[in-house]
Amino acid sequence: MKVRQLQDKILQLKRDTDTCILAHSYMTEDICEIADFTGDSYALAVKAKDTPNKNVVMCGVRFMAEMVKMLNPQKKVVLSNPSAGCPMAEQMDRALIAKVREECPGYAVVAYVNTTAELKTVADVCVTSSSAVRICRAIPAKNILFIPDINLGTYVKEQVPEKNFKLLQGGCPTHAKIGEEEVLAAKAAHPDALFLVHPECRPQVVKHADYVGSTTGIMDFAANSAAEEFIIGTENSIVQHLQFAHPRKRFYALSKDLVCNNMRATTLSDVYHCLLGDGGEEIVMEEELRLSAVKCIDEMIKYGG
Ligand code: 13P
Ligand code: SF4
Repeated sequence: MKVRQLQDKILQLKRDTDTCILAHSYMTEDICEIADFTGDSYALAVKAKDTPNKNVVMCGVRFMAEMVKMLNPQKKVVLSNPSAGCPMAEQMDRALIAKVREECPGYAVVAYVNTTAELKTVADVCVTSSSAVRICRAIPAKNILFIPDINLGTYVKEQVPEKNFKLLQGGCPTHAKIGEEEVLAAKAAHPDALFLVHPECRPQVVKHADYVGSTTGIMDFAANSAAEEFIIGTENSIVQHLQFAHPRKRFYALSKDLVCNNMRATTLSDVYHCLLGDGGEEIVMEEELRLSAVKCIDEMIKYGG
């Protein structure tokens, strides 16, 4: 079957089954085309809160589907590919944070949204890559335990020097494997290009950036900039989306290794089977866990995301 035929079947099934398809910006072009909404983690959370449909298929990784479920307990939420996890989200557990809290009494726990529902239960507030700096500045706490990403935490700490940060050794294996030498090589190959980077990259990479932001932030910056060439320091799907959206501009991957196999796991066929009812995994969550975990997301939304 041709891609377009499968997409047409999906569009029909979506209407027949009252389903909303949410796709993270790292999904492939064929999936983004049939999604009702595409965006970064924060935009997806907000969208999830006001989608009118009975059913939601989340194309992304598990913590994103959990977040949709937390905000929409009455809806059926399906993760399109059950094997799509986020290794960073699973790096820490409640016992570790309880231990660190004992060592650092009085610290507010700020959790990056890339965390499990279980870990969110110990957070005072949740943040995304696009809201972390603003929320850390805005919360009343002077002392912040930022989990789990040490790179995003380091970036936030630099932007919010008036507060004290305690960081732990966690992070995204995909972004963290890129070093300064790759930046210098890409800049030497494309001297006129602006360098746009995700804050999950290491500080020695981020320090060379012309712009630091979320996946949507990077895409918006490239769309609105008068520049014509860009080096993209995040998952390489963003390079492809930008090339489609702005064919006259040039986009270069910072590294061929910027590939998240978890985000790449989902296929158009997975989405089709979710809608047929014989694929994906329904997110089921104990109400007690949900109520405890959703508090930090509500708090984030209260701060304007
Ligand atoms: P965004 O918050 O930019 O969507 O990023 C999510 C993510 O997993 C980045 O690796
Ligand atoms: Fe997780 Fe990194 Fe993949 Fe994003 S790119 S989903 S942070 S492993």
